[in-house]
Amino acid sequence: MVVAGTFITVEGPDGAGKTSVLTQLLPQLKQHFNQPVILTREPGGAKISEKIRDVILNPEFTEMDARTEALLYAASRRQHLVEVILPALARDEVVVCDRFVDSSVAYQGGGRQIGEEAVLAMNQFATGGLNPDLTLYLDVPVEVGLARIRQHRQNQFDRLDQETVEFHQRVSAAYQRLLAANPERIIAIDATRELAEVTAECLAVLKAKLPALWQ
Ligand SMILES: Nc1ncnc2c1ncn2[C@@H]1O[C@H](COP(=O)(O)OP(=O)(O)OP(=O)(O)O)[C@@H](O)[C@H]1O
Ligand SMILES: [Mg+2]
Repeated sequence: MVVAGTFITVEGPDGAGKTSVLTQLLPQLKQHFNQPVILTREPGGAKISEKIRDVILNPEFTEMDARTEALLYAASRRQHLVEVILPALARDEVVVCDRFVDSSVAYQGGGRQIGEEAVLAMNQFATGGLNPDLTLYLDVPVEVGLARIRQHRQNQFDRLDQETVEFHQRVSAAYQRLLAANPERIIAIDATRELAEVTAECLAVLKAKLPALWQ
C-alpha cells in the first residue's frame, strides 16, 4: 500500500495529558489542515484491537507475562494499522494517534525490562517499519503525571496504573533515550503547564514542522 498521508503520534508518560491535548487539538487541526484528519488511539482503535486492549488492561490478569504483554500490544497495533492507519494514509489523510511504537519501547522495553531493542524489532515486524512523520512528546516528571491521574480517577485504576513508581521512572528514562535517538522525529513539549498552553505549543510545533499541511 502506498503511504501518502501524514502520520503524527503523541507520546508521554501516564497523565502527561496526551488525551486531553488531543481532544483540544482535533477541532483546530480539522479547521486548519488542508487534508482530512482522523484521531485514533492505542491500544485499540479497531474492533479486534479494542478486544486485545481489554485483555491487556484487565486488572484481574495479574499473571500476565511481560513478553505476552508486549506481543499483545504488537498484535493490537498490527490490526489497528492495517484496518485504520494505513487505509487513511493511503487516502492522503492525516492520522493522529494517541500512543504508538514508542510507548511499547518505553513501557515494555524500559518499564518491564525486556529490552528496548527487542521490543522495537518486534514492533517493526508488526508495523512493516512504518514510522510516524512527527511525534509530540508531552514531557512531565513521573510524579506530576501520576498525581494528575490520582487526583482525577479515584478507584478506577487499570492493571498498568498499579505499577510502582520505579516502573514509571524506567518508562520515563526509556522515553528520554528515544528522544535522544530520534531528535528529528520526536519533539518534546513541556507539559507541566496549563492545558491551553500545552495545546498551543503543540499547534505551533505542528505548524513549524509540517507547514505543507496548513491551509
Ligand atoms: N496541562 C494539564 N494540567 C493539569 N491537569 C491536566 C493537564 N493535562 C491533563 N490534565 C489532567 O490530568 C489527567 C490525565 O490527563 P490525560 O488523561 O489527558 O493524560 P494521558 O497522557 O492521556 O494519560 P494516560 O497515559 O493515562 O492515557 C486528566 O484528569 C486531565 O484532566
Ligand atoms: Mg490517555
